[in-house]
Amino acid sequence: MHLQRRNRITRKSEAIRSLVRETILTPDDFIVPLFIDEGVNVKTEITSMPGYYRNSLDVTVNEVKELWSMGLKAVLLFVKSKDELKDNTGKEAWNKDGLMQRSIKAIKDAVPEMYVMTDVALDPYSSYGHDGIVKDGQIVNDETVEALVKMSISHAEAGADMVAPSDMMDGRIGAIRKGLEENNFINTGIMSYSAKYASCFYGPFRDALDSAPGFGDKKTYQMDYANRIEAIKETVMDVEEGADIVMVKPALSYLDIIREVKNAVNVPVSAYNISGEYAMIKAAAEKGWINEDKAIMEVLTSIKRAGADLIATYFAKDAIRILNH
Ligand code: PBG
Repeated sequence: MHLQRRNRITRKSEAIRSLVRETILTPDDFIVPLFIDEGVNVKTEITSMPGYYRNSLDVTVNEVKELWSMGLKAVLLFVKSKDELKDNTGKEAWNKDGLMQRSIKAIKDAVPEMYVMTDVALDPYSSYGHDGIVKDGQIVNDETVEALVKMSISHAEAGADMVAPSDMMDGRIGAIRKGLEENNFINTGIMSYSAKYASCFYGPFRDALDSAPGFGDKKTYQMDYANRIEAIKETVMDVEEGADIVMVKPALSYLDIIREVKNAVNVPVSAYNISGEYAMIKAAAEKGWINEDKAIMEVLTSIKRAGADLIATYFAKDAIRILNH
């Protein structure tokens, strides 16, 4: 054969493969989700997330120091609220002495440069385990948005760099932006979970925070996974309302959505490599059916290749370890 072009030339050795590689992971790509618990010296492994823990604040602060020393620059905080603090208003969410607010302060005191992002949604504080206030069996939009604004302002007051509304209520980005502006938090960012789908893959996360919905499902606010155009509509609206970063969630079954969103907006796009996606790799690796490290890198690279500028992932530390190897 006399071929004009032999595509295998640029795959011949690791040297040339690395020279032409299009997508490279770095520590700057990652946001590290952290689960925080009350207590001292508490470190509880999450059953459905082997190797991942819910830690008390003292343990969390040490963890954040370690993350910073590894080159990781952003954390995304989730707290497990005590049952007795849960109600249908979610008011613990804006308690200035709440676990979230104490955590933000402690982390910023210990590692001021760490970029602290916070989950904004009522589910950890809701006696119904829903992301919003419940009335007559419905998750009511506008009252929930008022609560989310209070929650966001209280996170900003505690020192959060960026709030991350994960609730999927309508109009919350604009309302939160207005609330932050009116209270002079002009440097506090908003990372909107813009295209968040109603997914079975959130299961392990709900174990971690004991936040599974007490009735029904989240399909009246989270998106139908059959839809693509709706993701663009949601995301474009969030950008117009003032989101600094938008998010597609989950990541793996939604790589097409990440790409479309990336092409449609002019703000950074993040993707959340969620708990169920973590659990699947862990479970298959435990059985010896896949190579864990290789699976981690392939999955994270695919999310970045799809268009994610940032990836929230429980594998961030593993990825750094593998990259440094
Ligand atoms: C709740 C929230 C969820 C996740 C992040 N914020 C779960 C849900 O919507 O039920 C999921 C994260 C993961 O599965 O890793 N607002």
